[in-house]
Amino acid sequence: MRFRVRPVRALHGEAEVPGDKSVSHRAALLGALAEGVSEVQGYLEAEDCLRTLTAVQALGAEVTRKGPGHYRIQGVGLEGLAEPDAVVDCGNSGTTARLLLGVLAGQPFASVLTGDASLRRRPMDRVVEPLGRMGARVVGRNAGRRLPLAIAGARPLAPIRHVAPVASAQVKSAILLAGLWASGPVQVVEPAQSRDHTERMLTAFGADLAVDGRTVTLRPGRPLTGRLVRVPGDISSSAFFLVAAALAADSDVTVEGVGVNPTRTGLLDVLAAMGADVAVAPTGEDGEPMADLSVKAARLHGTAIGGPLVPRVIDELPVLALAAAGADGVTELSDAAELRVKESDRIHALASELTKLGAAIEERPDGWRIVGRPGRPFRGATVSSWGDHRLAMALVIAGLLAEGETVVEDIECIATSFPDFVPACRRLAGDACIEVSP
Ligand code: S3P
Repeated sequence: MRFRVRPVRALHGEAEVPGDKSVSHRAALLGALAEGVSEVQGYLEAEDCLRTLTAVQALGAEVTRKGPGHYRIQGVGLEGLAEPDAVVDCGNSGTTARLLLGVLAGQPFASVLTGDASLRRRPMDRVVEPLGRMGARVVGRNAGRRLPLAIAGARPLAPIRHVAPVASAQVKSAILLAGLWASGPVQVVEPAQSRDHTERMLTAFGADLAVDGRTVTLRPGRPLTGRLVRVPGDISSSAFFLVAAALAADSDVTVEGVGVNPTRTGLLDVLAAMGADVAVAPTGEDGEPMADLSVKAARLHGTAIGGPLVPRVIDELPVLALAAAGADGVTELSDAAELRVKESDRIHALASELTKLGAAIEERPDGWRIVGRPGRPFRGATVSSWGDHRLAMALVIAGLLAEGETVVEDIECIATSFPDFVPACRRLAGDACIEVSP
């Protein structure tokens, strides 16, 4: 399928974004591992997170849908997971695969994980290697570096201290989860702070977890206890509308109830550094801090993005490249080579597609150099998502800001994280802005 995207003058109003993807995955997993019942409200009902729910069902947890985004999970406790009777398919979801690898490493049974073509290309050695040192046996394609992978768990696992070469919340989470079945403390030391949803939620469920600077320590031995999890709105989904509003003259957009965990708010820092008119109105905290976010159009200028800011904005970089293309001056992104191992090689794919739209974007090994052109930064063209949901949505936003019509091909992937993206765009930019065609 493809979208025909027409330019809009401005975006106005309140945008609705679905529940946070990272928090939803963790709620499903910890709900399944806990004793008793967990209720999850605001769960992201998109393909990625539904994969995690299906996976925990395959492992023996009972999941009941009580309403939109509202699930009841009957946990099985740390001793109660069952051997899945078929291959567990993680679809497009790296978080499902890597966090599950951590859980399965500690089970007294064997399981097999696979995923779609994109996920089967992505590196798994970053979790397989430390889990192997803890005692799990993992074999698979490419010497155990790629899905499909077979995992023969061990119990107890050996305690480890893992000094991670890259800041990755998925790697950190896999090791902390495996640590629940270790014979002593597990430690993860990160080079920069990655998102800390696992640490927060494990603590809320009763685990013994300590954070000291960049070092996280989990001491096994305590059970997890089921509880209520309220999932905040996903800042990564809100980014598309906030960046669009910053760029399109006279726009004014508010997104309510967004998760503003400081490990995720690099988007707001970058927009502020570019001169955007951003307002953050906190609305409370329930495990994760939340806020209403508003952005009004402003004249943007180029900036530098690098260092410890990068993990805090990693998933928003594709859409921030649009802001850079519409800003005065040069924006340089560095230290972001991780983008090459996301759902696509986002450095290469986005540079190719934005070039087709007329942007001056140069690919670098670890980022981009973008020379901005304020006003209408793009001209309509036919572009492809490369099967990557965040690229698809970023390209739709570029189309809204372009001169002439833009066709975005291969847009089914949007369902992995934001199934209602099109209605949300139409609410802000008018019904005619996107036409869906086969
Ligand atoms: C995620 C961590 C990040 C992020 C991904 C979700 C998570 O990946 O890009 O979209 O939920 O833990 P890495 O751990 O590979 O950095």
